[in-house]
Amino acid sequence: MKTTQTTFQSAFEEDVYKGLTSFPKYLLSKYIYDQKGDKLFQQIMAMPEYYLTNCELNILKNHKDAIADIINKEGGFDLIELGAGDGKKTKILLQHLVDKEYDFNYLPIDISQHVLEELESSLKSEIPEVKVKIQQGTYFKTLENLADYSARKKVILFLGSNIGNLLHENAIEFLRNIKEAMTQEDMLFMGFDQKKDPQKILDAYNDPTGITEAFNKNLLTRINREMDANFNLDNFLHWETYDPESGTAKSFLVSKVQQKIAINRLDLEVNFDAWESIHTEISQKYDDTVVAWLAEEAGLEIQTSFQDNENCYKNYIFRKKS
Ligand code: AVI
Repeated sequence: MKTTQTTFQSAFEEDVYKGLTSFPKYLLSKYIYDQKGDKLFQQIMAMPEYYLTNCELNILKNHKDAIADIINKEGGFDLIELGAGDGKKTKILLQHLVDKEYDFNYLPIDISQHVLEELESSLKSEIPEVKVKIQQGTYFKTLENLADYSARKKVILFLGSNIGNLLHENAIEFLRNIKEAMTQEDMLFMGFDQKKDPQKILDAYNDPTGITEAFNKNLLTRINREMDANFNLDNFLHWETYDPESGTAKSFLVSKVQQKIAINRLDLEVNFDAWESIHTEISQKYDDTVVAWLAEEAGLEIQTSFQDNENCYKNYIFRKKS
């Protein structure tokens, strides 16, 4: 355990310190996403087992007409995407909105300036008619300015079931923050991965090629590099569970041996018993009842929803409760 407390240089350091000195141990999944973590997540999205991407693509392809009509109902709007990434799925909707000659601006927000610039330039060549204005920042920061950011009706997009990485109480807070930034005419279009055959869920988070394992272990790689630590990745096992009752998939790193890890920047030595775990991520799965409850708690209501062909995934449109 730690001897003398150093001051933390970043929120990452403080969170690692807290998580690895807690019992049971945990690390926060948001720290998986450095450049390498982003790349690994791109690879995950291309894996056959990771059905979420194709399900959402299927919804956007099959229902783009109905979706476009709903979001354009009262005329011109700003389409604000939180965590836009490479925009692969969004481009289906953007192309359709352009084909329909709807009056809209596309305002993608992402933590990575690099990702945003790539998205902007790919849009320039693929769908040059789209009026794009990129904005770098975390969703949480950007949400605070959302009301000032756009003067028109807002359609907020949050795809990929990213909400599933939040515990329900944090998901409610997140939705409440979005609601605060919405007016009565604004809409929130959001993806929620659904409860389904537990084996399909486990397979999506435990691929045989080890991409998800590398993604999970990227937390340790980052701590090694950024905090001068000596985790041996081979001494940890990637472990996935899914509880069909709560709908929660959980990722762990499990220590295969008794070991001591030095994290020099934190002046911390962490002891692991053999088979002790670090909880690293939750990926929540939903049903209509839970989504309606989250919305209600946040002051939102479901206007409608769209489902993929295999009933794996849903996109909901929410409005602010009147
Ligand atoms: C980003 N997020 C929605 C992914 C998920 O499905 O929870 C992250 C992920 N973790 C393992 N595989 C993918």
